[in-house]
Amino acid sequence: MTIQQPPQVVIDNHEGDEPLSNQSDNPSFQQVFEKRLSRRAMMKGSMGTAMLGFFATSSYSSLAAAGSSRHTPLIGFEAISVSATDGVSLPKGYAHQVILPWGHPISGHQPAFDPMANSGRDQAHQMGSHHDGMHFFPIEGQDPYQGSSEDGLLVMNHEYVEPRFMHASTRGQSLSSSAVALNAEGQRDADEVLKEIHGHGVSIVRMKKQADGQWAIEADVRNRRIHGLTEMEISGPVRGTDFVKTRFSPEGTRVRGTLNNCANGVTPWNTYLAAEENWSGYFVNHAEQPREQSRYGVTKEGAGRYGWELADTGADEFIRFNVTPAGASATEDYRNEVNGFGWVVEIDPFNPDVTPVKRTQLGRFAHEGVVFQPAVEGQPIVCYAGDDSRFEYIYKYVSAQSYYKETAGGHLLDNGTLYVARFNEDGSGDWLPLVFGMGPLTPENGFNSQADVLVNTRLAADTLGATKMDRPEWGAVDRKTGEVYFTLTNNSRRKETDAVNPRIENNWGQIVRWREHNDQVNAIQFEWNLFVLAGPESDSELAGQPLDGGSMFNSPDGLWFDADSRLWIQTDMSESIVNTGPWEQFGNNQMLAADPVNNVIRRFLVGPIGQEITGVVTTPDQKTMFVNVQHPGATTSAEDFAAGKLASHWPHDGSPYPRSATLVISREDGGVIGA
Ligand code: FEO
Ligand code: CA
Ligand code: CA
Repeated sequence: MTIQQPPQVVIDNHEGDEPLSNQSDNPSFQQVFEKRLSRRAMMKGSMGTAMLGFFATSSYSSLAAAGSSRHTPLIGFEAISVSATDGVSLPKGYAHQVILPWGHPISGHQPAFDPMANSGRDQAHQMGSHHDGMHFFPIEGQDPYQGSSEDGLLVMNHEYVEPRFMHASTRGQSLSSSAVALNAEGQRDADEVLKEIHGHGVSIVRMKKQADGQWAIEADVRNRRIHGLTEMEISGPVRGTDFVKTRFSPEGTRVRGTLNNCANGVTPWNTYLAAEENWSGYFVNHAEQPREQSRYGVTKEGAGRYGWELADTGADEFIRFNVTPAGASATEDYRNEVNGFGWVVEIDPFNPDVTPVKRTQLGRFAHEGVVFQPAVEGQPIVCYAGDDSRFEYIYKYVSAQSYYKETAGGHLLDNGTLYVARFNEDGSGDWLPLVFGMGPLTPENGFNSQADVLVNTRLAADTLGATKMDRPEWGAVDRKTGEVYFTLTNNSRRKETDAVNPRIENNWGQIVRWREHNDQVNAIQFEWNLFVLAGPESDSELAGQPLDGGSMFNSPDGLWFDADSRLWIQTDMSESIVNTGPWEQFGNNQMLAADPVNNVIRRFLVGPIGQEITGVVTTPDQKTMFVNVQHPGATTSAEDFAAGKLASHWPHDGSPYPRSATLVISREDGGVIGA
């Protein structure tokens, strides 16, 4: 939408976190769950006992059922209270350091941070904004989880930007967290656009623990930015097809940039995966949209998310965000530019000469992240990914070739089978193959090649009858057991009644888990149940009990298993609801730790005002933890911004605006984090 505020024109495409885009009429997860549990409700006579019955009788065989008496409790700290202060809270005995805030110089001419003066070029050598998924690669570069705990490449995503905090021109203007201002000609300043594009992407920074215990950047040729203009290869079945031919790449083999990188992935061969999540709104098509645009929510009217296509130089790298057909053919315009987005990007953090690669066989959707089963010599590679939009799906990929450590590499992601999940009423599940020519994925149903199936992954999944979920966010694999957990963050638009899981207009979210059938990672069936129904004490459940003041949370988003199988849960109550109404009782966004065997959850960390906590990893010794704080102060209203009144000043470093940054958490006694 465009809001006229004479004489200033502001683009404010604030459409909430995720667009509603599933137009299929498949049975939803909730409908399945309702049917399955309402029978139990009738038998047991109440909703609560039905839930207990569900957990007790599911065919899913959890470790808890196997006997928790032999289990050493994983959580050793006392839960902290909720908080709404503009700071970071941790349990007693824990300390934190703030590193790598947005704008911190890391490479090239090392431009000092000055948001009022830094140029678009400067931003390409500084930390991006809106820190998200992250991994610490030990400096030896051999194994993503083994090696130094004091020296490594910290690699992280930068999901998006908050333009009002980036430019000198915004001072005194009435701008919301997503808004940008146009000049009198209805254009945007090209250098501001460049700065925003460079603020997206990925940062790779060598970080080393110093003698005093603090962490600092270590000068290294590998310190670099990958951003919205970095050239990338397209690989897999979509490479070279008509879907991705553009004026920039008439052969359909290359594309510029990665955008809206939310959660991440780490391959068994020590590379980093950045997932492209809410990329569709950055592009605008004023003409009739083909299905590979309309099913994903490409902007239809006005300007794209930040109006980048309106940059006043009219340069090629900017106008490509307008994908309205303009030339005589696809190689004369950018009608296909948006088909170069929605993928998972593989980056080799250790080799700056390797071009990042978009791996199309992993599907095209609002990729939250990618999580892998542990690689086993001679077995296929298996990974999982969620599509974070309301009523979208969970996917699994199984490589065609087997894994061998000696030869493993990105090619294992180019040739294999993508599946989508169907959750059945009896606690079983099926992985449905997204393979051209199999089942209904044929020309009769509008699919003409494997590339077609992948570019239109959502439509193919609709056609297979996959189960529509409550916004799948991060997944996590317990590397000891192979159990897979996924957050389903919330779904305010769910309309169907659900007698047992009363989550119509699901404000709170839940965490689902499954085990592959017979523990075969490439199985096409699985057994599932719900680990926790998030929410306040009055409306939550963990192993038959409600959550309490030290464990309640909602809108689970980030999720990660550490090496001891501690499950870290991060929350993202959106900036429009956090600290308001029924969400007020939860305070600011936070991180909790769970012991899934003992069924214990405790709040570990609360962040400052207006932010979400997202991205977590420890060093191999588990004595240092890195956690990202994204978009502090995003709750500042447009009016308050104009008046210079900011909701947050975190990290309180004297800069004019709040900044996303990374926390380094340690224990004062040097122990394992969380234990
Ligand atoms: Fe970028 Fe779905 O969180
Ligand atoms: Ca997220
Ligand atoms: Ca989020």
